[in-house]
Amino acid sequence: MGNKELIDFAYRAMENAYAPYSNFKVGAALLADGRIYTGCNIENASYGATICAERCAILKAVSEGNKKLEKIAIVSSSGDYTMPCGICRQVMNEFMSDGIVVVTNNKEIKEYRVRELLPAGFSQADMKGQ
Ligand code: THU
Repeated sequence: MGNKELIDFAYRAMENAYAPYSNFKVGAALLADGRIYTGCNIENASYGATICAERCAILKAVSEGNKKLEKIAIVSSSGDYTMPCGICRQVMNEFMSDGIVVVTNNKEIKEYRVRELLPAGFSQADMKGQ
Protein backbone atom coordinates (compact mmCIF):
# COMPACT_ATOMS: atom_id res chain seq x y z
CA MET A 1 0.00 0.00 0.00
CA GLY A 2 1.63 3.22 -1.17
CA ASN A 3 1.33 6.54 0.65
CA LYS A 4 -0.67 8.11 -2.19
CA GLU A 5 -3.26 5.35 -2.04
CA LEU A 6 -3.52 5.68 1.75
CA ILE A 7 -3.96 9.44 1.37
CA ASP A 8 -6.76 8.84 -1.16
CA PHE A 9 -8.57 6.69 1.40
CA ALA A 10 -8.12 9.45 3.99
CA TYR A 11 -9.64 12.04 1.65
CA ARG A 12 -12.62 9.79 1.00
CA ALA A 13 -13.11 9.34 4.76
CA MET A 14 -12.93 13.12 5.23
CA GLU A 15 -16.18 13.41 3.27
CA ASN A 16 -17.95 11.91 6.30
CA ALA A 17 -16.46 14.38 8.76
CA TYR A 18 -19.00 15.91 11.12
CA ALA A 19 -17.52 19.29 11.96
CA PRO A 20 -20.32 21.87 12.27
CA TYR A 21 -18.48 23.73 15.06
CA SER A 22 -14.95 24.10 13.72
CA ASN A 23 -15.70 23.59 10.02
CA PHE A 24 -12.32 21.87 9.97
CA LYS A 25 -12.74 18.48 8.36
CA VAL A 26 -10.19 15.75 8.93
CA GLY A 27 -9.81 12.30 7.41
CA ALA A 28 -7.50 9.44 8.33
CA ALA A 29 -6.64 6.08 6.82
CA LEU A 30 -4.83 3.45 8.82
CA LEU A 31 -2.94 0.49 7.40
CA ALA A 32 -3.04 -2.45 9.81
CA ASP A 33 -2.09 -6.01 8.91
CA GLY A 34 -2.86 -5.34 5.24
CA ARG A 35 -6.26 -3.85 5.95
CA ILE A 36 -7.41 -0.24 5.75
CA TYR A 37 -9.42 1.42 8.51
CA THR A 38 -10.69 4.93 7.87
CA GLY A 39 -11.79 7.66 10.25
CA CYS A 40 -13.07 11.21 10.29
CA ASN A 41 -13.50 13.80 13.02
CA ILE A 42 -16.87 13.68 14.74
CA GLU A 43 -17.64 16.79 16.77
CA ASN A 44 -20.15 17.29 19.53
CA ALA A 45 -22.11 20.22 20.96
CA SER A 46 -20.23 19.34 24.15
CA TYR A 47 -16.90 20.11 22.51
CA GLY A 48 -14.83 17.82 24.71
CA ALA A 49 -16.76 14.82 23.41
CA THR A 50 -15.30 15.39 19.94
CA ILE A 51 -13.30 12.52 18.48
CA CYS A 52 -10.45 13.10 16.07
CA ALA A 53 -10.18 11.30 12.73
CA GLU A 54 -7.03 9.44 13.78
CA ARG A 55 -8.52 8.01 16.95
CA CYS A 56 -11.68 7.10 15.07
CA ALA A 57 -9.61 4.98 12.65
CA ILE A 58 -7.38 3.48 15.36
CA LEU A 59 -10.31 2.53 17.59
CA LYS A 60 -12.06 0.89 14.65
CA ALA A 61 -9.05 -1.36 14.08
CA VAL A 62 -8.46 -2.21 17.73
CA SER A 63 -12.16 -2.82 18.39
CA GLU A 64 -12.16 -5.33 15.55
CA GLY A 65 -9.25 -7.18 17.12
CA ASN A 66 -6.52 -5.79 14.87
CA LYS A 67 -3.55 -4.38 16.78
CA LYS A 68 -0.98 -4.63 13.98
CA LEU A 69 -1.06 -0.91 13.25
CA GLU A 70 1.62 0.17 10.80
CA LYS A 71 0.94 3.48 9.13
CA ILE A 72 -1.68 6.26 9.30
CA ALA A 73 -2.33 9.00 6.74
CA ILE A 74 -3.96 12.26 7.86
CA VAL A 75 -5.57 14.90 5.63
CA SER A 76 -7.78 17.88 6.28
CA SER A 77 -9.85 20.56 4.61
CA SER A 78 -6.91 22.98 5.11
CA GLY A 79 -5.09 21.31 2.24
CA ASP A 80 -1.90 21.77 4.25
CA TYR A 81 0.08 19.32 6.39
CA THR A 82 -2.18 18.26 9.26
CA MET A 83 -0.33 17.00 12.30
CA PRO A 84 -1.99 14.79 14.91
CA CYS A 85 -3.03 16.39 18.20
CA GLY A 86 -1.42 15.41 21.50
CA ILE A 87 -4.17 13.00 22.54
CA CYS A 88 -3.95 11.17 19.20
CA ARG A 89 -0.16 10.97 19.53
CA GLN A 90 -0.62 9.34 22.92
CA VAL A 91 -3.08 6.81 21.46
CA MET A 92 -0.63 6.13 18.60
CA ASN A 93 2.07 5.60 21.21
CA GLU A 94 -0.09 2.91 22.81
CA PHE A 95 -0.88 0.93 19.68
CA MET A 96 1.66 1.88 17.02
CA SER A 97 4.76 3.22 18.72
CA ASP A 98 6.87 1.75 15.90
CA GLY A 99 4.49 3.18 13.32
CA ILE A 100 4.56 5.92 10.72
CA VAL A 101 2.43 9.06 10.26
CA VAL A 102 1.92 10.30 6.70
CA VAL A 103 0.88 13.90 6.00
CA THR A 104 0.65 15.93 2.82
CA ASN A 105 0.16 19.47 1.54
CA ASN A 106 -1.08 18.01 -1.74
CA LYS A 107 2.28 18.71 -3.34
CA GLU A 108 4.63 16.76 -1.15
CA ILE A 109 4.31 13.94 1.31
CA LYS A 110 6.07 13.83 4.68
CA GLU A 111 6.56 10.80 6.88
CA TYR A 112 7.21 10.92 10.62
CA ARG A 113 7.80 8.15 13.11
CA VAL A 114 5.33 8.15 15.99
CA ARG A 115 8.35 8.11 18.30
CA GLU A 116 9.64 11.39 16.91
CA LEU A 117 6.22 13.03 17.28
CA LEU A 118 5.99 11.96 20.93
CA PRO A 119 9.52 11.70 22.28
CA ALA A 120 9.79 10.17 25.74
CA GLY A 121 6.06 9.50 25.75
CA PHE A 122 4.29 7.88 28.68
CA SER A 123 3.68 4.16 28.19
CA GLN A 124 3.00 0.91 30.04
CA ALA A 125 6.72 0.65 30.84
CA ASP A 126 6.39 3.76 33.03
CA MET A 127 3.88 1.92 35.23
CA LYS A 128 6.36 -0.73 36.35
CA GLY A 129 6.35 -1.21 40.08
CA GLN A 130 2.64 -0.50 40.43
N1 THU B 1 -8.85 17.16 14.68
C1 THU B 1 -8.63 15.89 14.21
O1 THU B 1 -9.56 15.20 13.77
N2 THU B 1 -7.36 15.43 14.23
C2 THU B 1 -6.29 16.16 14.68
O2 THU B 1 -5.21 15.60 14.88
C3 THU B 1 -6.44 17.59 14.89
C4 THU B 1 -7.82 17.99 15.26
C5 THU B 1 -10.22 17.68 14.65
C6 THU B 1 -10.88 17.81 15.99
C7 THU B 1 -11.88 18.90 15.72
O3 THU B 1 -13.05 18.30 15.19
C8 THU B 1 -11.26 19.75 14.64
O4 THU B 1 -10.22 18.96 14.08
C9 THU B 1 -10.68 21.07 15.14
O5 THU B 1 -9.84 20.87 16.21
